[in-house]
Amino acid sequence: MDIGVIGAGYVGLVQAIGLAELGHRVRVAEVDVARRAKLEEGILPIYEAGLEEMFAAAVGAGLISIHADNCEVVSESELSFLCLPTPAGVEGVADIGFVQRVLEELANGVGGRPIVVIKSTIPVGTTARFIRRFGDRLVIAHNPEFLSEGTAVKDFLEPSRIVIGSDDPAVADKIAATYVGMDAPRILTDPTSAELIKYGSNCYLATRLTYVNALANIAESVGADVLDVVRGMGLDPRIGPRFLQPGPGYGGSCFPKDTIALLATARQAGYEFSLLQSVVDADRSQRLWITGNIRRMVDDDLSGANIALWGTAFKAGTDDSRESAAVKIAQSLIAGGAMVTAHDPRASISKLRMAPDPVECARDADIVVVATEWPEYRSVDFAEVAKIMRGDMVYDLRNLLDAAVVRRAGLSYRALGRPRI
Ligand code: UGA
Repeated sequence: MDIGVIGAGYVGLVQAIGLAELGHRVRVAEVDVARRAKLEEGILPIYEAGLEEMFAAAVGAGLISIHADNCEVVSESELSFLCLPTPAGVEGVADIGFVQRVLEELANGVGGRPIVVIKSTIPVGTTARFIRRFGDRLVIAHNPEFLSEGTAVKDFLEPSRIVIGSDDPAVADKIAATYVGMDAPRILTDPTSAELIKYGSNCYLATRLTYVNALANIAESVGADVLDVVRGMGLDPRIGPRFLQPGPGYGGSCFPKDTIALLATARQAGYEFSLLQSVVDADRSQRLWITGNIRRMVDDDLSGANIALWGTAFKAGTDDSRESAAVKIAQSLIAGGAMVTAHDPRASISKLRMAPDPVECARDADIVVVATEWPEYRSVDFAEVAKIMRGDMVYDLRNLLDAAVVRRAGLSYRALGRPRI
């Protein structure tokens, strides 16, 4: 098929390159000149494991081309995916301005009622509103993405489900046909239900994590081991083992924004979603709890304390630090008077003092805080860390390190949700 993709951001590039991998001819429209120039040179402007190789193969096979004009791409494609940003806008609710403006442009600039499939995460009810406004000139459907940063290529090629929201069965079939050869279950539904599947999934996962984080805090206080606790819970098939790792709180471009957006949807619908509000509040409290623990480790006085922060990305496997709990914790430590030096193998934060490697990051530190679960931190030479530090405390917020290895180097080790020895 000839397929258009509007927007060469994270979702758009994975979608475009993934569709080319399935054998489609994909035209990508991108308004940003610099981004377009990079792509035309064969350089990907984002990092995602495995994507670069697939992009090179798609370019080599002539299956992907880069364009400047949205209308041209849509008019030459059988259907087009809209992969535009919906950043947090007023009061954190997703701003649909980019999507709306491009739909307007397409409605006015392309004849023949083309099929436009919105991939971006948009507040519940948005597609129906767009259909009411542009439906005479565009066929609009919703096909939410379920890509996680770091595993997006696998998530695209082996999806857990394909959700298609369209009121027209023939259009839904056509969208389903783009995912040729994938044996994932297909949910064909109306656009509003498709939107709610996306928010329902992300907010459920955020709730699950927040619950686990609360258990971790209790476990640590009562001397239980949260890793055994979640292993024991996860063996119940109704619960399952995945997404049960406690941490400093959820971050990234999705959960923080989507929880706020679903709360707003509920409020507009006249329903007080107090459970989800508690999740948002408890996620904030998790960072306060951790910052409080760090403060207590330096005798309740952050001024003059040196903190080494290992990891600024919101999770391992990505260079993305948006809404990262690590960065927020660093900011509140700095606000409390501490000096924070950070390291991350991929992400660099201009507002933080960054060190070139984890050992150097620990120079003169009172505490090393492990905030992102980068596997390489496991093999750091802890004897070197012990030599270079001023204090001796390692606080592992991801249960990443081997306690015995750290302690053998003469350091004290504390991990989130685990008994303190
Ligand atoms: C999330 C969803 O998992 C995807 O399914 C969805 O498509 C995507 O949002 C989106 O809406 O686009 P992502 O934001 O890439 O994906 O990150 P996750 O892997 O879900 O992690 C979110 C946060 O939870 C991170 O801060 C991570 O460190 C934390 N987390 C995750 C834990 O603390 N423990 C876990 O066990 C898992």
